[in-house]
Amino acid sequence: MAESNLFDLSGKTAIVTGGGGLLASEHAIALSNYGATVILADFNEEKCNAAAVVLRKQGVNAIAKYCNVTLKESWQFLVEEVVAEHGKIDILVNNAGFTNQSKSANFDVGFEEFPLEDWNAIMNVNLTGTFLGCQVAGKQMLKQGKGSIINFASLYGVVSPNHNIYPGTGISQPVAYSVSKHGVVGLTKYVATLWAAKGVRVNAITPGGIFNGHAGLFLERFQQLNPIGRMSDKTELRGAIVYLASNASSHVVGHNLIVDGGWTAW
Ligand SMILES: NC(=O)c1ccc[n+]([C@@H]2O[C@H](COP(=O)([O-])OP(=O)(O)OC[C@H]3O[C@@H](n4cnc5c(N)ncnc54)[C@H](O)[C@@H]3O)[C@@H](O)[C@H]2O)c1
Repeated sequence: MAESNLFDLSGKTAIVTGGGGLLASEHAIALSNYGATVILADFNEEKCNAAAVVLRKQGVNAIAKYCNVTLKESWQFLVEEVVAEHGKIDILVNNAGFTNQSKSANFDVGFEEFPLEDWNAIMNVNLTGTFLGCQVAGKQMLKQGKGSIINFASLYGVVSPNHNIYPGTGISQPVAYSVSKHGVVGLTKYVATLWAAKGVRVNAITPGGIFNGHAGLFLERFQQLNPIGRMSDKTELRGAIVYLASNASSHVVGHNLIVDGGWTAW
């Protein structure tokens, strides 16, 4: 393949879950810029539709669809619909999550009192949702004999949150978030090694802290602790997405691509 075509995604169909959130639009822009059609999927249809409308106005090839990633039937319905309309699924970005922006009911409660309901809810979206996405969309990719799955982990799936930076900031990092993201890294390796020889590559991306209007004490502490001296801009994952989705990473399997400004390096 010519070097200039290494990152080409023309004719590819991609599903990006968590389509109404902060980062999904960035993934869509990146994939569409390199030629892919992007299906944004979310259980919050209003946010997801709104994101797709904004993206289409910018010339991004994005379509919104409903999916609750915690339900196998919802995944099956989505996959059947996408295959009926586009013929195949080349790329799956398992990006949906309960996060500081999309919280479970008691996300901010400390470890000692953290409710089992929230543990289950976060594990269900972040880890079980990713498992189901791999299972259902991956089955379609196995039929095709090719595909690329990109699972979203987190810096807190590699190391624990630094507990000293959160007090007094109004931001918290509950145990289930960190543990679920550690699970995503493990799941990625399991499925990647199972399917690599069958043409389906599975990898993870680990973002660091993405700037989203953070200010004050949290921003000061985070910047000071991050080797690069700042939070990530939301656009800074685009290269990682295109790399793992495309042939540029054809021999990359079970990898966790860390894009964290060096947070986990010291
Ligand atoms: N933003 C960051 O700083 C950061 C850092 C590290 C990792 N990440 C990871 O990157 C991914 C995207 O982050 P983001 O900042 O865009 O998050 P976000 O909270 O802005 O968006 C998450 C989206 O997931 C959707 N979602 C939640 N439960 C769902 C379900 N059951 N079915 C379908 N959709 C569901 C929400 O509706 C929301 O639109 C997440 O997995 C997150 O953990 C983000």
